[in-house]
Amino acid sequence: MAKIAFLGAGNMGAPMTRCLLKGGHLVTVWNRTPDKAKALEKDGAKVAATPKAAVEGADAIFTMLTDDTACRAVWTGPDGALSGKPAARAIAIESSTVSNAWVKELAALANAKGLRFVDCCVAGRPDAAEAGQLHVFAGGGAEEVADAKTIVVPFTKSFTHFGAAGMGNAFKLIYNVLGAIQVSALGEAMHACEAAGIDLKAAAHAFSIGNTNSGHVIRHARYMATGQHEDPVQFSAKNRVKDIMYGVEFIERIGSQSRFGRTAADVFGQSLGIGMGDANDSELIDALRKIHGKQG
Ligand SMILES: NC(=O)c1ccc[n+]([C@@H]2O[C@H](COP(=O)([O-])OP(=O)(O)OC[C@H]3O[C@@H](n4cnc5c(N)ncnc54)[C@H](OP(=O)(O)O)[C@@H]3O)[C@@H](O)[C@H]2O)c1
Repeated sequence: MAKIAFLGAGNMGAPMTRCLLKGGHLVTVWNRTPDKAKALEKDGAKVAATPKAAVEGADAIFTMLTDDTACRAVWTGPDGALSGKPAARAIAIESSTVSNAWVKELAALANAKGLRFVDCCVAGRPDAAEAGQLHVFAGGGAEEVADAKTIVVPFTKSFTHFGAAGMGNAFKLIYNVLGAIQVSALGEAMHACEAAGIDLKAAAHAFSIGNTNSGHVIRHARYMATGQHEDPVQFSAKNRVKDIMYGVEFIERIGSQSRFGRTAADVFGQSLGIGMGDANDSELIDALRKIHGKQG
């Protein structure tokens, strides 16, 4: 059992916190919008007024926040997590999908404060988080990763250690670019089916049993065919573009290429361009209908 500070009670942070509580950990939660943290009290969480207060005496400090700006504010801002007094040899665990440059900077900042550091990115939607079925991609030294692995058990389906600090995030960014390419290509394929006069439920079924049947295709084809998208929104078009751009920037910086990634950002960018950035990523098909019309 560990004493945990969990910073960020959004769509992912809240179910991850519930899993850690169910697993027997003591969790103090902080969220910028206090009501979301308060809602976790009934599950047994303590609520802190600031990140600094949340990390008091903690063995592990998680962040599960939108992007670099949010993470920087929560770790290094006034009353930020790095100004607190956690337990000796505590581990800072960055689980947000953020840039690789930020993860490496944070690792150095945390180490300078005497904290150990592990990046523990997660794959899986909020329903998978609730069920404790996330895939964890970790980076860090062998000892701290082993310690982090024992802590994250309650929300983990699989755990892969990819190398030094930053390598879990590196894999997650590449993984998310591939996923975004699949979802954006599916949006275009489903719209093309509709334009061709093909029944979308039949198309979703055929895509889901053929060689096209990735998890993304199976799940999103159903939403696109039925028009019943996740409610409330579980992963937005805006977040897709954020993830892709962190991924493409990283991939190109290390000397590889991501032409499909750039195209996927362009496709999802159309949703943002017509004011649908906060809609589910699967609502890309509705954005394409608005842009191109329903029937070809
Ligand atoms: N949803 C998914 O399927 C999924 C799966 C795997 C990984 N992820 C990644 O996990 C991270 C969290 O995703 P999510 O779905 O939980 O997003 P979310 O529901 O939008 O939650 C975002 C969290 O970040 C906080 N935040 C945003 N800007 C902030 C700022 N400037 N200062 C302090 N806090 C700030 C929000 O606080 P407020 O409540 O005050 O807005 C909220 O706690 C993202 O990096 C995402 O890419 C998401």
